[in-house]
Amino acid sequence: MSGRLVVAVILVFELAHHACNGCLEKERLGLLEVKRFFNAHNFSIDSLPSWSGRNCCEWDGVQCHSPIPHILRLSLSTLLDIDHSQHMLYLFHASLLNPFPKLESLDLSHNAFSAFTNHKYLKNLRELTLNNNRFNDSKLLQELCKTKHLVKLDISSNNFSGEFPECVMNISSLEFLDISSNQFTGTLPSTISTLKSIKILQLDDNNFQGTFSMALLANLSNLKVFQLSTKNTNNLQVQTETPSFLPTFQLNVLKLSHCNLNSKTSSKIPMFLMSQHALKFLDLSHNNLVGTFPVWLLKNNTDLEYLILTNNSLTATLQLPPFKHHLLHLRLSCNTLHGHLPYHMGFLLPSLSHFNVSRNSFEGNIPLSIRKLQSLNIFDLSNNKFSGKIRMSIFSSMPELSRLQLGNNNFSGNIEDELQDSPDLIVLDISENRISGSIPSWIGNLTDLLYLQLSQNHLKGKLPIELCSLQFLKFFDVSGNQLHGSIPSCFNIPSLNYLYMQHNNFSGPIPKAFSKSKELVAFDLSQNRFSGHIPSWINKFSSLQFLLLKGNHLRGSIPRHVCGLREMSIMDLSGNKLKGSIPSCLGNMSFGISNGSKSSYESMGLDFKSVFFVEIDVLFDGKGMFWRISHEDKYSEGEIEVNFMTKNRLEQYKGNILKYMCGLDLSNNELSGTIPPQIGYLHKIHALNFSHNKLKGRIPETLCELKQMESLDLSYNLLSGGIPSNLSQLDFLSFFNVSYNNLSGVIPMSPHFRTFVEGSYLGNPNLCGVVAGEGCSSHKWKPRNQYEGLMRDEGDKINEYVETFYWSFVASYLMVLLGLVIVLFVNPRWRGIWFYFVHLCCSYLFNYV
Ligand SMILES: *[C@@H]1O[C@H](CO)[C@@H](O)[C@H](O)[C@H]1NC(C)=O
Ligand SMILES: *[C@@H]1O[C@H](CO)[C@@H](O)[C@H](O)[C@H]1NC(C)=O
Ligand SMILES: *[C@@H]1O[C@H](CO)[C@@H](O)[C@H](O)[C@H]1NC(C)=O
Ligand SMILES: *[C@@H]1O[C@H](CO)[C@@H](O)[C@H](O)[C@H]1NC(C)=O
Ligand SMILES: *[C@@H]1O[C@H](CO)[C@@H](O)[C@H](O)[C@H]1NC(C)=O
Ligand SMILES: *[C@@H]1O[C@H](CO)[C@@H](O)[C@H](O)[C@H]1NC(C)=O
Ligand SMILES: *[C@@H]1O[C@H](CO)[C@@H](O)[C@H](O)[C@H]1NC(C)=O
Ligand SMILES: *[C@@H]1O[C@H](CO)[C@@H](O)[C@H](O)[C@H]1NC(C)=O
Ligand SMILES: *[C@@H]1O[C@H](CO)[C@@H](O)[C@H](O)[C@H]1NC(C)=O
Ligand SMILES: *[C@@H]1O[C@H](CO)[C@@H](O)[C@H](O)[C@H]1NC(C)=O
Ligand SMILES: *[C@@H]1O[C@H](CO)[C@@H](O)[C@H](O)[C@H]1NC(C)=O
Ligand SMILES: *[C@@H]1O[C@H](CO)[C@@H](O)[C@H](O)[C@H]1NC(C)=O
Repeated sequence: MSGRLVVAVILVFELAHHACNGCLEKERLGLLEVKRFFNAHNFSIDSLPSWSGRNCCEWDGVQCHSPIPHILRLSLSTLLDIDHSQHMLYLFHASLLNPFPKLESLDLSHNAFSAFTNHKYLKNLRELTLNNNRFNDSKLLQELCKTKHLVKLDISSNNFSGEFPECVMNISSLEFLDISSNQFTGTLPSTISTLKSIKILQLDDNNFQGTFSMALLANLSNLKVFQLSTKNTNNLQVQTETPSFLPTFQLNVLKLSHCNLNSKTSSKIPMFLMSQHALKFLDLSHNNLVGTFPVWLLKNNTDLEYLILTNNSLTATLQLPPFKHHLLHLRLSCNTLHGHLPYHMGFLLPSLSHFNVSRNSFEGNIPLSIRKLQSLNIFDLSNNKFSGKIRMSIFSSMPELSRLQLGNNNFSGNIEDELQDSPDLIVLDISENRISGSIPSWIGNLTDLLYLQLSQNHLKGKLPIELCSLQFLKFFDVSGNQLHGSIPSCFNIPSLNYLYMQHNNFSGPIPKAFSKSKELVAFDLSQNRFSGHIPSWINKFSSLQFLLLKGNHLRGSIPRHVCGLREMSIMDLSGNKLKGSIPSCLGNMSFGISNGSKSSYESMGLDFKSVFFVEIDVLFDGKGMFWRISHEDKYSEGEIEVNFMTKNRLEQYKGNILKYMCGLDLSNNELSGTIPPQIGYLHKIHALNFSHNKLKGRIPETLCELKQMESLDLSYNLLSGGIPSNLSQLDFLSFFNVSYNNLSGVIPMSPHFRTFVEGSYLGNPNLCGVVAGEGCSSHKWKPRNQYEGLMRDEGDKINEYVETFYWSFVASYLMVLLGLVIVLFVNPRWRGIWFYFVHLCCSYLFNYV
């Protein structure tokens, strides 16, 4: 830039708060940003007027000095420090454009503007880039309709809503239109067919409704990129067959996702694609399309790089063209494909980096030719019917492999053969197969691993100490195997969030090493042979929500330290040999009262959703538009090409799972003493089970405070006294059992209480009341004989029944919750919890009920 330009700039003023408190500071921030920007671009703004002391709301009208007519393009992208202005709305002060009378291109992207102060400078623009702001000013679009020369309009990722103004389709000069990621509703204007010059048309991620016919695009012969998808609202129907049409375009990019494609007619893959031979990117996911795998798409489009047909109803086998094809992504998960993977797959698709066929019905083994896939990054065969001996070494020497998911198949054999040279592996999932042998030590070499899922196999032996090298693990699941021995004392993994070791044969004390995993959310050691005491350091797990130690050989008393677990949702210490009394401080635990510190929920687990972007850089040189190619970070300008960028990001799970089932189970121990009245403070608890202990004394009246309670089991104890009558106020109580105690007096009479079966009160000879028509005044309540006999003979079975009942509704809560998670994130990481509860519950249910 020649010469020093004096530009006086005032850019932003705060719109949101007309009271001026504190806004001066923010304005100054804005100005400094502007100043930095202009300095960086060799403008000088050293003559800026002093603004201090002015009333910020009148802070406007700084004069510009000399017009700068030769400036045609102005970029003010990423100007505002939007992190500091989450809830602020900024107006773009149009007078800023005064010095640039000939401006053709204006870029305000990545700021926080919501509107222009006026529109008079926009008329002559050829290119307007407003993406990633907060614009919701529909007048702006009406105004733009009056422009004569607009070539590029990018308003993506803003806050526009309502119907998309039809008149925009009248801008016949438009070559690039991107309105994606807004809140537009209504039908797409049919005048779209008049956008004669259009090359790139991106309409995806809005809320469009009604029917849209692709035939409207038939005569747009310059069209190269068309993207349309909805925010999963299922309100848009895209028709490609009626009316049928002959396209005049050759597309490079086509995305029609969540579009109910041809749902009113054939639900077939669009026929017009038969005429296309220049496709590089094709995404027809989430459409319920039927038919066989369209191998002709690969044959016809030899440059195709991305083929995404996720979540349709495609059937038959996966066919590949009989020649080498340089496809990068093949994503076919959630279909009904079957048969074997093509034997020569590794030779035919040598560039493959992302292969996802999860949730189909494929069978057979993984073809050995997979070895040839040197660029493989993601390989997901989970939830199919693959079988045969698993061969880990075929994935060796794939330097980019990051996720290997083979879970929920029927693979057998062991995993001794080493998966070498995969330094970037972060996910290894071979759960729910029939893998035998021991856990090999080579897993310890995968030092970047975040997620290790080996559950539900036939693994034997001890945990190898090499696992201690996995210092970044967040998820570790070896549940449901036949592992034994004690836990290596080096197993101290600070990042761990989920630790699942249940249903094995581990023994020894709960190792101190675990206390280093301070971010644990779930800690499940149940159904093993752990011995010793519940460690006093347990309260180090300050984010713990699930503490499951059921079915071990733990002794000693329940340490008061457990009361320090403030985020607890489910605590199950049942089936051990715990002695002593129930600590009264349990009443200080929240069991769902706390809303969960946000941070602990946000750090919960991993969501390995791969986020996929098609990014197209469009440049404009005053004469016309051209596209810029970039493969990842390799930029080369000037070529007329489409740019694809994939970002496989590791995203943290953000959903807020707050509505947990909350429960406390101390049953089947040797606890003595009385039930502390403080238990009545656990207001949010849904289930309480103290059965099969040696508890004495009265049932505390405070239990009636537990308004959310659905299940209360105090059976098989030594409790005496009456059943507190106010328990009948517990409206949600649907399971209640005080059998086999020494209770006396009258069973509370409320319509609700009457629904409990006789079994709830058995074995309390001094109890009387109206159950099943028996009166209290005349005689003591007695069970019917045949029922009593049953109870005596099959007491244990009844216990199982009781347990069934308890777990069935624990499980029903978790099912709703986890079902949601699974549907949303279709991710095997919840299998651990899911399996644990659901399997437990279902097996009881089916066996005993
Ligand atoms: C600013 O000017 C200096 C010298 O005048 C030049 O070296 C530099 O590249 C310029 N920077 C920009 C962003 O134009
Ligand atoms: C834009 O959004 C802001 C804040 O949500 C609202 O106050 C304003 O009325 C909206 N403007 C239009 C034109 O919808
Ligand atoms: C977008 O607009 C809606 C209403 O039109 C408003 O509720 C929301 O806050 C706006 N979002 C932003 C980021 O301004
Ligand atoms: C589009 O232009 C045509 C003729 O140029 C005109 O008749 C029509 O009203 C315009 N439509 C809109 C919505 O501006
Ligand atoms: C496309 O052009 C053909 C021939 O000019 C015409 O018959 C047809 O109606 C046009 N289609 C659209 C959607 O404009
Ligand atoms: C699968 O596609 C259907 C529409 O065919 C959609 O309703 C559903 O939400 C999609 N499932 C997922 C997990 O996206
Ligand atoms: C695409 O494949 C179909 C089916 O094999 C064929 O009929 C059509 O001619 C092919 N189109 C091109 C452009 O090769
Ligand atoms: C798994 O494979 C074994 C033998 O290879 C077979 O007996 C069994 O039926 C298979 N299971 C499933 C669910 O396909
Ligand atoms: C794996 O780790 C072991 C030691 O734990 C080492 O001897 C071996 O060379 C490592 N293998 C690779 C491929 O790094
Ligand atoms: C657990 O170990 C004990 C003693 O070594 C053995 O008797 C038992 O069968 C093992 N259980 C399982 C499920 O492996
Ligand atoms: C539990 O709370 C009570 C009163 O709120 C307090 O006196 C007691 O010290 C607390 N106990 C523990 C272990 O925090
Ligand atoms: C494979 O696709 C499924 C379903 O769309 C998805 O849940 C899963 O995360 C994908 N796998 C990988 C490794 O991206």
